[in-house]
Amino acid sequence: MLRAKLIAISLFAVIALAACGSSEPTRFSIAADPGYASSLFRQNCAICHGPEGDGRTLDDGTIVPSLRVGEFKKKSEADVYNQISEGGNGMTPFRTQLSEREMRLLTELVHNKLRQ
Ligand code: HEC
Repeated sequence: MLRAKLIAISLFAVIALAACGSSEPTRFSIAADPGYASSLFRQNCAICHGPEGDGRTLDDGTIVPSLRVGEFKKKSEADVYNQISEGGNGMTPFRTQLSEREMRLLTELVHNKLRQ
């Protein structure tokens, strides 16, 4: 009995070590994150940018870009904030729907956490 337990424990340890050993950093998950910024994203942005911000094509054919890759990842926080606040080119402006603090939280999320 004890032996079986020990084997189970060491098996678990091996699996856990293997998971840590991979050099790929874990992808930040908006769906799994309990933070306020992620909740704002789920409520306001996921409908167009997808639940994990990977982008999608809307029913009317609008191509909504991924927020995890691409040239725009090199833009400043101010540019990202501006896009959220002013929208444009198919995106809703959020300055009348979200507070400044909420737009800053979303900017931080998009700019710093969303990576491939
Ligand atoms: C109605 C659909 C829609 C919603 C809702 C929406 N977006 Fe967008 N978003 C777009 C489209 C379309 C673009 C591409 C605009 C362009 O090409 O200039 C875009 C572009 C962006 C960009 C710039 C990406 C790039 O590649 O240049 C950011 C950042 C962004 N959105 C963040 C957000 C955030 C954060 C929210 C939620 C507060 C949000 N969006 C909600 C449709 C949407």
